[in-house]
Amino acid sequence: MEKILLIGAGALARDFIDIGSADKFVAAYVDPEFAKTDTVDGLRILTNWQEAVKLATHYALAVSSMVHRERARVIAADAGLKPASPLISPLARIARTASLQQGCVVGHFVAIGPSARLGLDCMVMHGVVVGHDSCVADNVVLCAGVSLGGYVKLGARSFVGTNAVLAPNINIGSDSYIAAGAACLRDAPSFSQLIGNPAKRMPLS
Ligand SMILES: CC(C)(COP(=O)(O)OP(=O)(O)OC[C@H]1O[C@@H](n2cnc3c(N)ncnc32)[C@H](O)[C@@H]1OP(=O)(O)O)[C@@H](O)C(=O)NCCC(=O)NCCS
Repeated sequence: MEKILLIGAGALARDFIDIGSADKFVAAYVDPEFAKTDTVDGLRILTNWQEAVKLATHYALAVSSMVHRERARVIAADAGLKPASPLISPLARIARTASLQQGCVVGHFVAIGPSARLGLDCMVMHGVVVGHDSCVADNVVLCAGVSLGGYVKLGARSFVGTNAVLAPNINIGSDSYIAAGAACLRDAPSFSQLIGNPAKRMPLS
């Protein structure tokens, strides 16, 4: 039985507490600067990493900031915690031939198409569509309403803002930042920032 430390206690984490129920997690870790309460939706909040990692065997990332995600993932892994089994809303539809690696969290009304692949620790918020045969690398965040056409390739640690669209067959390199509502119609290299419709590439500051 996995004892999962849910990393985060904000809006995103609360959705996953609701999906998994507080019983699925042993605690949520939250940075002291954000901690305002002892519990959230029935789940204990811890602000001390040492205490938090001792309680758990696994972790799940439910924060959207890439900086916080990476920091938390390294602390959890150094403490020997493994990514939890995928946490998937019962209202999501995952094709039988799609695959999700450990640590993925998938919200309500998500559709993941045939033969699509998601890497480790991906966060897929409500209403996302991942088209058939798309390949999403490790630790990617897809915010609510994002739509990936078929055969899209999306590099590791990329962040895709709310309601962005990635056209079929495009290839976006790792560590990219796609703005809310962007319509990405062309390939882009790693460390791209893509904004607007059609999306323009800006240097990532
Ligand atoms: C792209 C983004 C990072 C820019 O943030 P920022 O650097 O603070 O930018 P600003 O708000 O100062 O805006 C700078 C300019 O970019 C424009 N702009 C900002 N975001 C934009 C967007 N998503 N699409 C198109 N234009 C955008 C602004 O209108 C402004 O234009 P102007 O200089 O002509 O007035 C941000 O707007 C964004 O899209 N973040 C994603 C948020 C998200 O999806 N969060 C989900 C949380 S789960």
